[in-house]
Amino acid sequence: MSEMTEGTLGGRFTFPGTSLTVQRIGYGAMQLAGPGVWGPPKDPDGAIAVLREAVAAGVNHIDTSDFYGPHITNQIIRQALHPYPTELVIVTKLGARRPPDKSWQPAISPQDLTEGVHDNLRNLGLDALDIVNYRAMGAIHGPAEGSIAEQVTVLADLQRKGLIRHIGLSNVTAAQLAEAQSITDIVCVQNSYNLAQRHDDALIDDLARQGIPYVPFFPLGGFTPLQSSTLSDVAGRLGATPMQVALAWLLHRSPNILLIPGTSSVAHLRENLAAGQLTLSPQVLEDLDGIAATAEAPH
Ligand SMILES: NC(=O)c1ccc[n+]([C@@H]2O[C@H](COP(=O)([O-])OP(=O)(O)OC[C@H]3O[C@@H](n4cnc5c(N)ncnc54)[C@H](OP(=O)(O)O)[C@@H]3O)[C@@H](O)[C@H]2O)c1
Repeated sequence: MSEMTEGTLGGRFTFPGTSLTVQRIGYGAMQLAGPGVWGPPKDPDGAIAVLREAVAAGVNHIDTSDFYGPHITNQIIRQALHPYPTELVIVTKLGARRPPDKSWQPAISPQDLTEGVHDNLRNLGLDALDIVNYRAMGAIHGPAEGSIAEQVTVLADLQRKGLIRHIGLSNVTAAQLAEAQSITDIVCVQNSYNLAQRHDDALIDDLARQGIPYVPFFPLGGFTPLQSSTLSDVAGRLGATPMQVALAWLLHRSPNILLIPGTSSVAHLRENLAAGQLTLSPQVLEDLDGIAATAEAPH
């Protein structure tokens, strides 16, 4: 269920079958760890300032994981915001671990997932996690088919034990979503998607029909920030920044899209939150739609 309201962070959205309602513009905490999502940030006070500024500005949806840092991002969230405002929804994810060589390895056994829930609870200072996404490892460039039933079943058991309130998925295909929905209710899907990478267009529309939010990761291009002359031109015409236009485009793309742009900078945070006030005309949307076609054309 969503409603666009002027002056708010893109309007509000309620995760289906829950009492959790968030502003459509939230915050992704991955950038708060050190370089390579490893170790402490260069500026710990700055990281705390970003989180406090976000919440003060009305953000009530924070995306995180205990494998950012590892552990460090959650510990910073706790230090900055605990005791948490009642309306704050913290979404975390399971499915990976970070060994000392800083690589990303799957952590998908029942024991891994159970330990991951306890790591998140301890480091965030919570008795139960609002939403846990099962993050499938997939291939380098996105999801890969394969059963996720065992992992979703483990999360559903942890939900019955009261440690998890709701379950979501990340980096999954439509078939994996359907498989998971045959086991338990899925309240959100978080996949890679932005102006230039639109392979999930059909999935977004299907989720919209089901009232399930789609939460794009890498909304600004992630490790490779979006760059496009069309985007810059549009931003110039609107008196906005390219990143603001990229976020506003996502808000316009579908009412079930929730944003979690990541930043380690208060200035960028403010810029990103202001994207909710940008209205894009049909002509501008058409111009921006052309970016994906160009980005995905063979070179
Ligand atoms: N499920 C998954 O597998 C998965 C994977 C990746 C990420 N995520 C989640 O998704 C969130 C968003 O993804 P992301 O942080 O990787 O990528 P992103 O939001 O697409 O982009 C973040 C990058 O953009 C920069 N940036 C942010 N705002 C900016 C602005 N206004 N102007 C210029 N540069 C700006 C940031 O640098 P500064 O710090 O300098 O602003 C950072 O380098 C993450 O924080 C994380 O919570 C999930």
